[in-house]
This record gives sequence, structure tokens and C-alpha cells, in this order.
Amino acid sequence: MQKKQTKPLYIRNANEVITLKDSSSTPLKKEKMNDLKVIHNGSVWIENGIIQAVSSDHELTQKYEDRIQEAEVIDATGKVVMPGLVDPHTHLVYAGSREAEFHMRLNGATYMEIMNSGGGIHATTSKTRAATEEQLYEESKNRLNKFLLHGVTTVEAKSGYGLDWETERKQLTVAKKLHEDHPMDIVSTFMGAHAIPQAYKNNPDIFVSKIINEMLPKVAADHLAEFNDVFCEEGVFTPEQSKRVLLAGKEFGLIPKIHADEIVSYGGAELAAEVGAISADHLLKASDQGIQMMAEKGVIAVLLPGTAFFLMTEAANGRKMIDAGVPVALSTDCNPGSSPTCSLPFIMNLASMHMGLTVEEAITAATINAAHAINRGKEIGSLEVGKKGDIVILDIPNYKQLNYHYGMNHTDTVIKNGIIVVKAGSLCQ
Ligand code: NIG
Ligand code: FE
Repeated sequence: MQKKQTKPLYIRNANEVITLKDSSSTPLKKEKMNDLKVIHNGSVWIENGIIQAVSSDHELTQKYEDRIQEAEVIDATGKVVMPGLVDPHTHLVYAGSREAEFHMRLNGATYMEIMNSGGGIHATTSKTRAATEEQLYEESKNRLNKFLLHGVTTVEAKSGYGLDWETERKQLTVAKKLHEDHPMDIVSTFMGAHAIPQAYKNNPDIFVSKIINEMLPKVAADHLAEFNDVFCEEGVFTPEQSKRVLLAGKEFGLIPKIHADEIVSYGGAELAAEVGAISADHLLKASDQGIQMMAEKGVIAVLLPGTAFFLMTEAANGRKMIDAGVPVALSTDCNPGSSPTCSLPFIMNLASMHMGLTVEEAITAATINAAHAINRGKEIGSLEVGKKGDIVILDIPNYKQLNYHYGMNHTDTVIKNGIIVVKAGSLCQ
């Protein structure tokens, strides 16, 4: 359980405070993604879990002159202070791992070949069905701790390793419990349409109807998720089936998200624009028309360069999407098959190395735009008065070093809801 912070928290004199302050309350696009609104020698005052002031140290020492004695002070001299990272696309709750498949892929098998022969998502589904709620809770809690150690303070978590109601509910229940127990915030997505179960291989439409008529009503009735996601891909769910699931979810108040155009160009980006999805994710093979439609409708592109890296394919064209006016966010896609990592900073590095994003764009994409991709743009993702005290202190002198020392973890301190949860790179007990 989380401790209560009674004292105000005063983070002082950082080399750089990256605020990402913006009054528009919409995701940042085009050149706005490059404007981090940095304060040099900056400080932040947090009280009752909420940011009360962000300014130069000089200004804040004057403002809080009479109260500094009562505050817990963190000296951030020589460091970078930024919003807690937000991961808007994870498959957090699952059992087991799939390193044998990794070995098969290194020997030439493809991701879809493995899935079509009963491995891949099906393999994790079997393990997740067999796991107890307690086992799933512990495995997922370990991953959450790893996220936190990498400066991530909020994650989205999808179901989709059940493909039957009992297990989908178990995954969503675990996510809900972790949201309550763990310092991190977890935002849930129902993804019953993650794969066609082996038993419905020859009758996929019957499974689609099951999702619509049996699962979605229960997800909504028990308030188990806010979003509804579909793996729209050749050999998985067709655009027509995906549309049925997403529109039915909308009737229950679930906001659409799509795993779109990951392996082949399949009309996923277009479908996202058509159904009013909050985001379309993956997009490695998105068509120019699809990108254009996403820009027009303001659909956020959640890009997952770690998945392309791990599947040894070319990453999505993030540069082209930003230039076309699509708001871009970044995520790990943390899952046991195509992206077994909790390091969002490494993903930010890949975004620069393999998708042409500037360091500034990568930071925007993993903070405020990621927050918007899970409908949390008003509460998190930037350091502004009234937002949650979700903050990372990096042990680097300037933010450009974040992507420069690749594959390293610069996280020194993590503050969640105004409470210190990571200190000197270690979890606080
Ligand atoms: O986003 N592409 C579909 N779903 C996941 C992978 C899930 C798995 O392989 O277990 C993804 O990459
Ligand atoms: Fe995914």
C-alpha cells in the first residue's frame, strides 16, 4: 500500500525542469512536439500529491520562504527533472515467457508462422488460463516495479491472453487490484479480440459474436476497462470484424483502440479514423491515405519501435507521421512475444535511431502525448500546476543525454502522487 506524504515536497534547483507546459489540452503535433518548455535552475513544489508551483528556484524560494522548513527537500542540482513517463500500450498481465520462440525466430521462423502453428499469443493464452490470480498478480507486479525503476509512473494494460471470459476477467481483475495496491496507476483495456482461439479457427465470426454479445456487456457492467482494442491483421481479425467489435464496444462506452497495420497494410489506420479511435498502434505498414485520415481526425499514433527491433523488421515511419500532422506517442508494447521489455527510455532511444524522431519529440511522445492516448492528458504527462505530482529525476545534466547513452537507465528518483517511490535508483520499501 502507498504511504501518505504529509509534508510538502520541494524539488530544488534542477539543471533543467522539462515542463511540457501547454494550454491547449490536446495532444501536441508537428513543431509543438519539439518545444519542451524547459526551465533552467528550476524547482517544483508538490503538496497533497498535486503540483502547486513550477518555476525558477529563485522564484519558488521567495514564494515559499516561510514554509521551506516544513517541506521534504530534494536537491536536484546537476540533474534533469521531467514528468513521469507514461506507457499507453502494454500487455502487462500475463503468465510465463517465450524465449524458445525468440530462439526459433533467430533461426528464421516468423512471428505469424509461430502464432499460426499454435504458439505466440496462443502459448501465452494457455499459460495465463492455467495461472492463478495470485500468480498473475505477482508476475505483473514484478513488471510494474521494473517500469517504475525506469521512470514510468502510469501504464495502460490490456487483457487478451484469455480469449474466454473467465480468463479475460481474471486479467482485468488483476490489473484493477494492482491499480489499487501498487504506487503506479494502471488504465485498463479489454482486448478479447487479440487472437482467434484455436477452438474457433474455422468459425471466427462466432467468436466475434461471443465478444460482442457475451464479453463486452460484462466488461462494461463491472467497470473493468475504459478502452476496447482489436488486433486487426491479415490472418487475425479482418477490418470488418474489427469494426463490429469496436462499434459494439462504443455502445458500452468503451473507447476504441486498434493494433493496426503491424505486419501487412490492412486498412487499420483508415478504420481507426472511421470509428473515432483514440489511437491506432503499431502502424509499420500504414498507408499514406490512412496516415492522412488519422491526421484529419486527430487519431494518436502509438508507435512501438521496440517491437520492430525485437521482430527484426523496419520500424514505423514516425517522421512521416509527425510531418503529416499526426500526434505521435511511444510505448514499449511490453509483452512476452514481440517486446519483452519495461524500458520506455530504450524505446525513446529507438524512436530517434530508427524512426527519425528528435530527442524532444521522443520525450513529448512518451509523456504528454502518451497521456492523451489513454485519455489522461488533463491529469498527467506534463509538470503544470494542478496536475498529479508524477515526476522523474534523471541523473544526467541535460535531457539530450537521455537518448545519447543508449540502453542505460538514468532514473535516480521517482515521485508518484507526490510520494518518493524510487530513491537513488532503488525501490523504496
Ligand atoms: O502488440 N500484435 C499483437 N499483439 C502483441 C503481441 C502479443 C504476443 O505476441 O504475445 C503486440 O505486439
Ligand atoms: Fe500490443
